[in-house]
Amino acid sequence: MELIFDTHAHYDDAAFQEDREEILSGLSEHGVGYVVDVSAALDGIPNVLALAQQYDFIYSAVGVHPTETYELETADIQKVEQYAIEPANKVVAVGEIGLDYHYPDTQKEKQKEWFAMQIDLAKRLQMPILVHSRDAAADTLDLIKAENARDAGGVLHCFSYEPEMAKIYTDMGFYIGIGGVVTFKNARKLKEVAAQMPMELMLLETDCPYLAPEPFRGRRNDSTLIKYVAETIASLRGMSAEEVIRITAENARRFYGLQKEVK
Ligand code: NI
Repeated sequence: MELIFDTHAHYDDAAFQEDREEILSGLSEHGVGYVVDVSAALDGIPNVLALAQQYDFIYSAVGVHPTETYELETADIQKVEQYAIEPANKVVAVGEIGLDYHYPDTQKEKQKEWFAMQIDLAKRLQMPILVHSRDAAADTLDLIKAENARDAGGVLHCFSYEPEMAKIYTDMGFYIGIGGVVTFKNARKLKEVAAQMPMELMLLETDCPYLAPEPFRGRRNDSTLIKYVAETIASLRGMSAEEVIRITAENARRFYGLQKEVK
């Protein structure tokens, strides 16, 4: 049985405060073999790193989410770099980073500055980027191209745009992260993406505690529910869920540079 690779989780989130230990120590019984825990705010990074240090199967991504950049100074990028280069932190990517224009108080210039700085950091560290992009399709693509983010490689996490946009990214060698949303009845565009995109560029993710798949929509998400995502993708593509889990886990190990650690 192939182990599930959850490529994007937030187990440091307060939603897991009560039972984090219990959930994490039970994941392997549910076939989950690997988790990458992803940072959002700069001052939350130590909590992410603590999990990677504590659990063999957890790796970390360090970076600042676009809506968490407003209070930061440019020089704070050095703190992200210091976290990233410490081997004990098991950092495998820079993320999540990107652009999010969803909220009325959006500071676009600040977001763009930090997106560009963190792409540059990823290129220097030779790590892939985990891209969060919401209501900002054109500017995200522009910056990805202008900063040559292709040199770092990356994934469009929780992909929410048109199938045509997915094709632009996969043609550049970027991966597409697919999670619980693909199981939602009204997720027509994402189902189309999941059905048509190159299988070798697909990653499975929870984004937990958010975005639990059907039939658990609205509840707290965790990595054991990824199998419902795999089942939906399998039926869209006419393959088995085991096959989806096996191929996406292989993709994730290649993406994060963890091939040597496969037992
Ligand atoms: Ni996330």
